[in-house]
Amino acid sequence: MPAPPTFPALPLLPAVCPSLMSADPLRLGEQVDALLDAGARVFHVDVMDGRFVPNLMLGTATARAVAALVRPRGGLVDVHLMVGRPGDAIGWFAPHADMISVHVEADPHPHQLLGEIRAAGCRAGLALNPGTPLDAVAPLLDAMDYVNCMGVNPGFAGQSFIHATLGRLTALREVLPARVALQVDGGVGPSVAADARACGADLLVSASAIFGTDDPVAAYANLVEQVAAA
Ligand code: DX5
Ligand code: ZN
Repeated sequence: MPAPPTFPALPLLPAVCPSLMSADPLRLGEQVDALLDAGARVFHVDVMDGRFVPNLMLGTATARAVAALVRPRGGLVDVHLMVGRPGDAIGWFAPHADMISVHVEADPHPHQLLGEIRAAGCRAGLALNPGTPLDAVAPLLDAMDYVNCMGVNPGFAGQSFIHATLGRLTALREVLPARVALQVDGGVGPSVAADARACGADLLVSASAIFGTDDPVAAYANLVEQVAAA
């Protein structure tokens, strides 16, 4: 098999990434447009299969619709696969994704999966549950474009940030080459964003702290301000 393509380092960093699992499904386009107007460029799409995590969430129709809004404005669609057989889903989502992360815990062949993501034309991310030893990352560095370090056990929005994640971010940033971005996902709100950024996070994913408020644009802008000041 030929070596998969490689990609330049992610642009647009640092970025606060609205996570669309908490958007209003009946107003999704309107909310994405408003966040684009406010400067958001990386939109996070959570995919859950009810097996790897105890919830069912967004599918290809959502990714496709979001990509149609986001890509013409220079934005990226970041698909986070929380599914038991991620290899199957890469091909389904790749046409509507610019970045795809897969969980190291979900498949015995994460190196191969990362290569399949790149071969499908997307930047490849390795996602780590809070209990996963960081040693999993080192052998896979060449195959990845970003690490998704979970701040909660995946499955639901609105959970509290696990504070040990800050130490994990610091440790990851020390071993990651500069071209590999560091994402933090889960529990990231106004009380966490600056600390996570200071610990090295480049992509800060946030669902309920943006969409769970009365004014998602203002909540997004506040997170951006905190990240910029950190
Ligand atoms: C959690 C998902 C997260 C989720 C974050 O399983 O992977 O992306 O959307 O939600 P909040 O920001 O509310 O913790
Ligand atoms: Zn996610």
